[in-house]
Amino acid sequence: MAKIVTFISGKGGSGKSTVLVGIANELALAGNRVLLVDTDTGANCLDTITGVGEGIIYNWGDIFNDTCEIADAIYPSLSIENLFILPAPKDYKKTFSTTILKDLLRLIAANFDFIFIDAPAGLGQNLTLSLEPANEAVLVVNDDTFSLKVGKKAAEIAESMGKSTTLIINAFRTFAVKNGMLPSVDEAMDITEIGLLGIVPFEANLNFNASQGIPYTRNTRATDAFARIARRLQGEKVDLPSQWQ
Ligand SMILES: Nc1ncnc2c1ncn2[C@@H]1O[C@H](COP(=O)(O)OP(=O)(O)O)[C@@H](O)[C@H]1O
Ligand SMILES: [Mg+2]
Repeated sequence: MAKIVTFISGKGGSGKSTVLVGIANELALAGNRVLLVDTDTGANCLDTITGVGEGIIYNWGDIFNDTCEIADAIYPSLSIENLFILPAPKDYKKTFSTTILKDLLRLIAANFDFIFIDAPAGLGQNLTLSLEPANEAVLVVNDDTFSLKVGKKAAEIAESMGKSTTLIINAFRTFAVKNGMLPSVDEAMDITEIGLLGIVPFEANLNFNASQGIPYTRNTRATDAFARIARRLQGEKVDLPSQWQ
């Protein structure tokens, strides 16, 4: 039975989709069956990053409108085995209740080890829709104070729905923290009041965009961080590298 995790951020641009796909890639490369569910219609990122974009015909809205069967809307990644994507409809604001995804994902959870839901930016009803099916939530922030503050509000919504939430600090820049320009890990945890799942360093060339033929390349500092987080999500205890302790 899949563990269903919703990745939230509150504020757009914190790297939520990049981090979600990176961790999913590592889980899939380790042999887990992973389904990515897009609820971030505007940004429409997951299909691009995973390279499925061109071939998409159906999305989860079509399943509910009876335009297709469930299996028709689940697309395998073109670049990574065991990784699948369920795209979002172009616009679902007025059409669906907040519990529809929960009903659908409960039906198919037995076919996967992990289901990752990419929440939309913002704190409204679509965030609730994306959180409803989850067993737990992961808040992805970058290390600026605004991202931390808005992220905290998203996490409060998740916690109010009974979803325990952990924190990933993304695009972390040690020199900026040392110069006092950005919050430290401790300060980020104090502001958000959430326990840490992982830290992903800033990496200027972090770009794996299968649609543009740029493959996921392992053994960089950022992808090593994705791999550590993937192991933690599988229940392993993996220490933070010493520079962050
Ligand atoms: N750790 C990182 N280091 C450097 N750039 C990053 C990192 N994570 C994400 N980015 C970049 O930040 C931008 C926004 O990322 P994205 O995943 O689309 O954010 P979100 O889904 O939160 O809107 C992208 O250009 C992405 O390549
Ligand atoms: Mg995104």
